[in-house]
Amino acid sequence: MNKKVKIALYALLGILVAMQFFRIDKKVPSFSSNDDFLVLTSAPDDVAQLMRTACYDCHSYETKYPWYANIAPVSWWLKSHIDEGREHLNYSLYATYSADDREEIIEETGEAVTEGWMPLDSYKWGHPEARLTDAQRSRIGEWLMSLSLSGIGAEDDVYDLGEEED
Ligand code: HEC
Repeated sequence: MNKKVKIALYALLGILVAMQFFRIDKKVPSFSSNDDFLVLTSAPDDVAQLMRTACYDCHSYETKYPWYANIAPVSWWLKSHIDEGREHLNYSLYATYSADDREEIIEETGEAVTEGWMPLDSYKWGHPEARLTDAQRSRIGEWLMSLSLSGIGAEDDVYDLGEEED
């Protein structure tokens, strides 16, 4: 092998090895399942199961990391999706959102699922179980619709949040 190519390959290997020292932070703040969306709304088991499988890795504190989450730079890329996902919407903190926000979350969750733009396509490569079928999407959509119509999940007086918002 040409000497320059050899040096370049060793340099690349060195960089990849060095990257492994920068591990992602998997810690989450303490949270209570009493604040969780699926728990608070008493979601039926099948819906809860589907959403935990397809959404909770990025939109909750209950992320289950795949083995490749230990390998940089893939780990960094996963972590950025998780951080961004939680920032937009964190089902673990559902009770802490305002009543308006909770209503919006129910609506947007319905749109994301029935219009098919969630979960992210890149997530589905590594998670075949998160590739929701049309039937599964309508099942979640119908439940969200009934939730939205009943007002449960968005009402102010459903939860004892300890503080009133105005
Ligand atoms: C791989 C991580 C990942 C998964 C899995 C995932 N999301 Fe997301 N989600 C994101 C990211 C990142 C954003 C923000 C950027 C965007 O909209 O693409 C987002 C945005 C959203 C939004 C918009 C929130 C707002 O206020 O802007 C909704 C609603 C949503 N996701 C619902 C879901 C639902 C429902 C599922 C499961 C069916 C799901 N997501 C699965 C990463 C994810």
